[in-house]
Amino acid sequence: MHLLIPAAGSGKRMGADRNKLLLQVRSKPLIAWTLLAAEAASSISWIGIVSQPQDWDEFKSIIADLKLKKTIELISGGSTRQESVYHGLQALPSNAAQVLIHDGARCLATPDLFNACSEAILYCSGLIAAVPVKDTIKVVDDNGIIKSTPERKQLWAAQTPQGFDVKLLKKCHVEGIRQGWEVTDDAALFEKCGIEVRIVLGEETNLKITTPQDLAIAEFILSYRE
Ligand code: C5P
Repeated sequence: MHLLIPAAGSGKRMGADRNKLLLQVRSKPLIAWTLLAAEAASSISWIGIVSQPQDWDEFKSIIADLKLKKTIELISGGSTRQESVYHGLQALPSNAAQVLIHDGARCLATPDLFNACSEAILYCSGLIAAVPVKDTIKVVDDNGIIKSTPERKQLWAAQTPQGFDVKLLKKCHVEGIRQGWEVTDDAALFEKCGIEVRIVLGEETNLKITTPQDLAIAEFILSYRE
């Protein structure tokens, strides 16, 4: 299976002046934990890291330190996640029929989750890892007034990995550009194009590291696993 890792973001919401994936978590750069999980997932054979060229020297030295055995390519990132994934899709080897997309910032996803998604995408066109929502979710307007309360049993929190048929995902991205759609995950492009996307049960610990608190939680979870 081919895996694309969008890793071209900044450290803005983290309050950092650099790519948050290069910050240290438990004595390793955050992205190193993501890469170690992908390396340990037997289903993954090729990894494309989509990142800003200014970070490539650091990424190369992280890859060398980890002594990763899988084929790894660095691909130039875009100004949004959506654009970065689009760049990644153009760089996929021509024999890639399916692809997994996994945010570099989700450094706690396990090899088992990668393998489950790799297996499941052989039997459908699109899927995402997701977990049932525990909180009651409110839809709120710009004035802070609640507009509605969606039924909780129908709500799932989207994670990555997300898996797709490559040809379909490329088409959906092109349609997204044509229509000016702005989305925060790839499944949303499939949905907007009217293509079915399935759920694979994700992991409660598969957090997207966004804030300094998330970094502290990741430290704790990684130390608990060791
Ligand atoms: O900012 P956020 O954590 O929501 O981004 C999700 C993922 O998308 C991160 O792994 C980040 O590095 C990546 N990203 C990207 N290109 C961008 C912005 C974000 O690859 N321009």
